[in-house]
Amino acid sequence: MAVNMRGKSLIEIHHLSLEEIYQIFDLSAALKQDRLIGRKHHVLEGKKLGMIFSKPSTRTRVSFEVGIYELGGTGLYFNQNDLQLKKSESVSDTAQVLSRYLDGIMIRTFDHQDVIDLAKYGSIPVINGLTDLHHPCQVLCDLFTVLEKRRTLRGLKLAYIGDGNNMAHSLLHGCSKVGMDIAIASPSGYTPADFVVKESQENAKYMGSKIEILEDPIAAVKDADIIYTDVWASMGQEKETEERKKKFMKYQVNPELVKHAKEDYLFMHCLPAHRGEEVVNEVCDSPNSVIFDEAENRLHVQKAVMALVM
Ligand code: CP
Ligand code: NVA
Repeated sequence: MAVNMRGKSLIEIHHLSLEEIYQIFDLSAALKQDRLIGRKHHVLEGKKLGMIFSKPSTRTRVSFEVGIYELGGTGLYFNQNDLQLKKSESVSDTAQVLSRYLDGIMIRTFDHQDVIDLAKYGSIPVINGLTDLHHPCQVLCDLFTVLEKRRTLRGLKLAYIGDGNNMAHSLLHGCSKVGMDIAIASPSGYTPADFVVKESQENAKYMGSKIEILEDPIAAVKDADIIYTDVWASMGQEKETEERKKKFMKYQVNPELVKHAKEDYLFMHCLPAHRGEEVVNEVCDSPNSVIFDEAENRLHVQKAVMALVM
């Protein structure tokens, strides 16, 4: 049965039910197929999506802009520097003003609380396009990609190697929601936030899946169906790049490490990839790699999210 998601914000995967997640996947698959055969949709005819960016972006920016256009609506891009937001105007006033012009907001910013507040004080759906804490659109698309490739999610094992960052957090939420096992290997001091692990453990308990927070990348990758990694220094951490390179060297996804996974493992990365750091070309460009299908799916999955919530 269809779940009504109209008006709902997408801030964290943790806030979605399993039914809502699969509804997004079903619609993503249909929209992907329709795009392939040239069937057009106008479900968001006349709707305006404001897209606020305080950090750079290739995939998120282009896929949301193309996505809203393909559904009959319009995307308006704002660099945060162009807006009064958090300079001479509060998040709550901005939320109320933008709600009078727009039908939805997609925001990429630093502080997760700003996204929560935009949704709280505004009256239109807010979509999190990445914060320091979470990247839910990316992980919905990642899980959809795995579902396409493996026809199932429950019971698979994903190994995430690297920084316990926004990607690790959303993967913890996402995998545990759908009943996938997840093993995270990070150097000490760079593990995911305890409260996100706890929230995910509740999901995993309900679904009967497993969460492991480890230091050893080989142990994490053992028998994995999916190997996932992300940059060692995220946007906003550029000053730590050199220090992190030293600490994360053991966490490079290379041919030595992937030997410990299942032979037909999928390699995934949210991109942009820093080739030669967290991953090497031999893995990135191998037949196991699905990174560009994953990037493409941002478009289909976000179209589904916009169609459902806007
Ligand atoms: N994966 C991702 O969000 O890419 P961008 O930073 O290019 O949007
Ligand atoms: N962890 C990365 C993800 C980029 C999509 C960052 O926040 O920069």
